[in-house]
Amino acid sequence: MNVTVRQKSKQYRTVTYNRDRNEVVLIEQRLLPHRFKTIATKRYEETALAISDMVVRGAGAIGATAAYGLAQGVQSYSGNGLKTFNKLTHKVATTMETARPTAVDPANAIRQVLAAMETGSTVEEKQDLAVAAAEGFANDNVQECQRLGQHGARLIKNGSRILTHCNAGWLAFVDIGSATAPIYEAQSQGISAHVFCDETRPRLQGASLTAWELAQQGISHEIIADNAAGHLMQHGEIDLVITGADRVLGKTGEVTNKIGTYTKAVLAKRHKIPFYVAIPLSTIDWNLDSGAKIPIEERSADEVLYAWGASKSGKVSKFRISNPTSSARNPAFDVTPPELITGIITPAGILKPKQLLKYRTQLT
Ligand code: MRU
Repeated sequence: MNVTVRQKSKQYRTVTYNRDRNEVVLIEQRLLPHRFKTIATKRYEETALAISDMVVRGAGAIGATAAYGLAQGVQSYSGNGLKTFNKLTHKVATTMETARPTAVDPANAIRQVLAAMETGSTVEEKQDLAVAAAEGFANDNVQECQRLGQHGARLIKNGSRILTHCNAGWLAFVDIGSATAPIYEAQSQGISAHVFCDETRPRLQGASLTAWELAQQGISHEIIADNAAGHLMQHGEIDLVITGADRVLGKTGEVTNKIGTYTKAVLAKRHKIPFYVAIPLSTIDWNLDSGAKIPIEERSADEVLYAWGASKSGKVSKFRISNPTSSARNPAFDVTPPELITGIITPAGILKPKQLLKYRTQLT
């Protein structure tokens, strides 16, 4: 995506890999929208920490980061003994896969890279294959987001008012985004929409990241408090909801996404507003057979008890906003059942959640 900072525009991907330096290059998302900065991780442990600390976040973006992190980790091996190399590969893969538990994209990305590495017979071959597979995962992610944008754009009419939750824009992927892809595609066809961004407490990805992206793209938008969506729906001010997802169960059509998505889906159903979820293929989990089995990340209570922001110079400040003696719960994701979802926008077309299994061959 094109990023303009102080009148200078440049194309960026959320995550890239520099093989010569063996560095994973990430946009430091915790500083946005106050400051645009990239960072380079030099070791795979640092890359895994960037995922868990949310320097990089969003299902597709952490998938690609995990894939590059695996390539980076195995690249650092300088010997030629396969036994030690395989041990290191396993350690790096596990570290990357477990950095955050809910999104399935890192696990799918790691599986793809490991499968590619299987076909090599020397350390050097396996290292080359790991880099190529990680690049392949990232490039596929971009192309799939493009395709789902083309399918989803037909849902948008000139003047459509769209609600989105959290950030499923290009910052949450390698480029383009999932929930935002149809909006960007519609814009390129001369169709303009207005987007309501749920602020998305506690980390405010909607208010900080989605709003920043939409402003960069010149898309009409307003930030709303999470609790305002029901009121706007009741007053006929929302025509369509599009969210992303962190894990969609291929067998049941259940959708895991940022906490608060389920609430919005219930509200949309009540007001007969279509509710769509946009995903690339790496967000589909073909193994789990029940949403109850999805690991829901519980993050630090501090995210609820405190608010924080960064100054223009990039200095991050944190303030207590809650009663000092109270504790908090902070489940970061929830599960929306298929009956509340109008359709899943995939690179292969728009499907009913329960149709995913039937179309598995087109979705893998
Ligand atoms: O905790 P995050 O910011 O990594 O959460 C992921 C998300 O941004 C959302 O759940 C998003 O809607 C799906 S990720 C494309």
